[in-house]
Amino acid sequence: MAIRVAVIGAGPSGLSQLRAFQSAKLQGKEVPEVVCFEKQADWGGLWNYTWQTGVDEYGEPVHGSMYRYLWSNGPKECLEFADYSFEEHFGRPIASYPPRSVLWDYIKGRVEKAGVRDQIRFRCPVRQVTYSHDTKTFTVGAHDLLRNRTTSESFDYVVVASGHFSTPNIPHFDGFHSFNGRILHAHDFRDAMEFVGKDILLIGTSYSAEDIGSQCYKYGARSITVSYRTAPMGFSWPDNWQEVPLLTRVQNKTAYFADGTEKSIDVIILCTGYQHHFPFLSDELRLRTNNRLWPLGLYKGIFWEQNPKLMYLGMQDQYYTFNMFDAQAWYARDVMLGDISLPTQSQMHQDGAQWREREEAVDSAKAGILFQGDYVKDLLAKTDYPTLDVDGVNDMFLTWKHDKEVDIMGFRDKSYRSILTGTLSPLHHTPWLDAMDDSLESYLSEI
Ligand SMILES: Cc1cc2nc3c(=O)[nH]c(=O)nc-3n(C[C@H](O)[C@H](O)[C@H](O)COP(=O)(O)OP(=O)(O)OC[C@H]3O[C@@H](n4cnc5c(N)ncnc54)[C@H](O)[C@@H]3O)c2cc1C
Ligand SMILES: NC(=O)c1ccc[n+]([C@@H]2O[C@H](COP(=O)([O-])OP(=O)(O)OC[C@H]3O[C@@H](n4cnc5c(N)ncnc54)[C@H](OP(=O)(O)O)[C@@H]3O)[C@@H](O)[C@H]2O)c1
Repeated sequence: MAIRVAVIGAGPSGLSQLRAFQSAKLQGKEVPEVVCFEKQADWGGLWNYTWQTGVDEYGEPVHGSMYRYLWSNGPKECLEFADYSFEEHFGRPIASYPPRSVLWDYIKGRVEKAGVRDQIRFRCPVRQVTYSHDTKTFTVGAHDLLRNRTTSESFDYVVVASGHFSTPNIPHFDGFHSFNGRILHAHDFRDAMEFVGKDILLIGTSYSAEDIGSQCYKYGARSITVSYRTAPMGFSWPDNWQEVPLLTRVQNKTAYFADGTEKSIDVIILCTGYQHHFPFLSDELRLRTNNRLWPLGLYKGIFWEQNPKLMYLGMQDQYYTFNMFDAQAWYARDVMLGDISLPTQSQMHQDGAQWREREEAVDSAKAGILFQGDYVKDLLAKTDYPTLDVDGVNDMFLTWKHDKEVDIMGFRDKSYRSILTGTLSPLHHTPWLDAMDDSLESYLSEI
């Protein structure tokens, strides 16, 4: 019987896995049968924008957490696939901070070229994965929503690439039940125009808070108040923006904070992060972690130590994204093809524990970037993934951090040099703060 691999999710991580196998096939290698289950109607994961929130037309929780007017929050040169440059895709250099639609187009371009779409079963959420120690195979149960049929099949390997920025983490604060305004999580935020002229309270201080606040400011919110649990973000924010300690309670439309101050607000947006959520995995297979650079239990950040025929892609907190997912997928592929062998379970465990020890010493964004860069290098050293200058990417990330400290509303106007082609990106025709149209056509136009 041919070896069979199930990939769960056709977002950037799952697509990396499909592309990795296709690249081995191009070299004449015999590759397994790959079936990718995707619950959405199209590929691209979070980059495939949906206006929907809550549940979709089939009653499925909506996966999408992206919103209109979302632009990349890091330079595209940091995430460039080493086997498919932006220049190859767009036929010319483009500016460094593309909006979502442009990045989605880029992601799709590589897999369209690879011709892997027919391996994906769209609208097929995976419902259950179990492992039999007798047959040494997985049973993957899915729901074919279009035909309204459930399916159950056997696989030798399972690659979980279902993402971890979709199921919201929703804390409770006193008075929420009687707040006279709207409360939503970042997962359900779609259009900043809804909040024009409003006083907005954001809870959380990471990328969602920074970016949703910046968007609301850009499109005309009256004021932005950010409430922090640990520490303020500390950027030089515009005048109508303030950072305050943690919310203690709300009453009617007034928010009260831990320093005794208060503010009248119209809307509360919980930018409080996401949960790793795998309702389809049995207890013995399920990764349990919070959003961090080194989740425990995954050898090389990929292989489920207790049963390494189960793999996870993209489960780390992410500075590196697309090319890290590639590095993982190429490594996972080579293990499945038998080109890389895994050590014993206890060696895998020890190796993971060492990475975790290093991760625990990470005390700054710079240290986090270098840590993840080292991780990517470690994976790349063993595979034939095209050369990726990780030190060069690290340097770009550090410059990006600096650019943000200098000008949080202007960092997206900078340009970076591709480590693949050596080309310095042209400046975009309009500064980010004035660029209201986020369409691909507008971004790629000359004016
Ligand atoms: C708001 C937001 C903005 C971001 N912006 C950036 C950015 O600017 N730059 C950057 O590099 N990264 C950004 N990211 C990070 C993002 O995590 C990665 O870019 C990337 O999308 C992760 O890819 P993934 O394939 O691991 O997960 P996802 O993109 O989440 O894709 C997972 C896929 O799995 C499918 N799926 C889930 N459950 C099932 C199931 N049971 N059965 C079948 N299919 C399933 C989903 O439908 C989805 O298609 C952002 C994240 C968020 C939330
Ligand atoms: N334009 C873009 O590209 C863009 C936009 C948005 C998001 N993203 C991506 O989306 C991903 C997720 O980012 P995220 O910001 O949603 O999640 P995150 O990075 O996990 O951050 C979660 C935040 O919520 C806070 N928090 C959690 N529980 C809380 C509680 N009970 N009370 C108060 N605060 C609480 C945390 O505070 P503590 O610090 O105190 O723990 C932290 O600030 C990132 O990869 C990011 O790059 C990208």
